[in-house]
Amino acid sequence: MVALAVLTAAGSGTRLGCRGPKALVELGGQTLLERAARGLADAGIAALVVTAPPGEVDGFERVLPGHVPGAPHVPVLVVAGGESRQASVAAGLEALPAVATLAGVELAEDTPVLVHDAARCLTPAEVIGRVVAAVEAGSVAVVPGLPVTDTLKEVASPMSTTDAASGPTPEVRRVVATPDRSHLWGVQTPQGFRWSVLLHAHEHGRALAATESTAATDDASLVEALGLPVDMVRGDTLALKVTSRTDLLLAELLVEGALTSGG
Ligand code: CTP
Ligand code: MG
Repeated sequence: MVALAVLTAAGSGTRLGCRGPKALVELGGQTLLERAARGLADAGIAALVVTAPPGEVDGFERVLPGHVPGAPHVPVLVVAGGESRQASVAAGLEALPAVATLAGVELAEDTPVLVHDAARCLTPAEVIGRVVAAVEAGSVAVVPGLPVTDTLKEVASPMSTTDAASGPTPEVRRVVATPDRSHLWGVQTPQGFRWSVLLHAHEHGRALAATESTAATDDASLVEALGLPVDMVRGDTLALKVTSRTDLLLAELLVEGALTSGG
């Protein structure tokens, strides 16, 4: 069986504080976008739809000129993303039949389709392979996860953008609960789905996508909202999401280490 992917890269990188789109930030001489696309191609994904910030479609097409650099057999279509990550994925799904045709792949109900964040550009091929294998083995939705290492607290009021960005001193908040950590896992991407289920989940959840404050933060939660099962396979610390300057510095060290050790 063959798998296809939507690679989300339409975010602006507010928390990273970069000038242009986060996906065009360089890491060891290569953009996050190129690294993530190449990672999917190297793991055997047959074709990609990439979401770009609306004004950046041409710039992204220059980085990915119809195919993944170094993998000319993997076609790429770049589409304009939306207001939220969820809206961007929905826009990407619309272009999936077209990219499947370019790759000569029949898009069937049970074709595995991945949704991956360009910001997780160091995700090992093994993680991508585990997700695809689980969908091939019959899971309708699969997420890679790792046990959380922090103790988590629930607070009384929702997070503000200032809190999320660790900007100026956030207000003092009241803790209301400490969930049992033994059942809590942090999830990563790529998340993998049976094509028909992913499409249906996004259609069903469409009303949430207008702003990031209401949108689903991952695709699997849209499948959960349908009452369908979501399975988990093991993720990897290398699948970290480049969100802050600290993450970028860590990713640079990881890439440098890989380069100096010949890997
Ligand atoms: N993304 C997207 N469309 C959006 C928002 C985000 O395709 N409207 C993508 C990002 O490009 C990224 C992934 O979703 O690859 C995860 O988002 P995140 O890490 O939050 O990236 P940004 O939204 O760019 O960062 P920030 O929230 O700090 O602005
Ligand atoms: Mg974001």
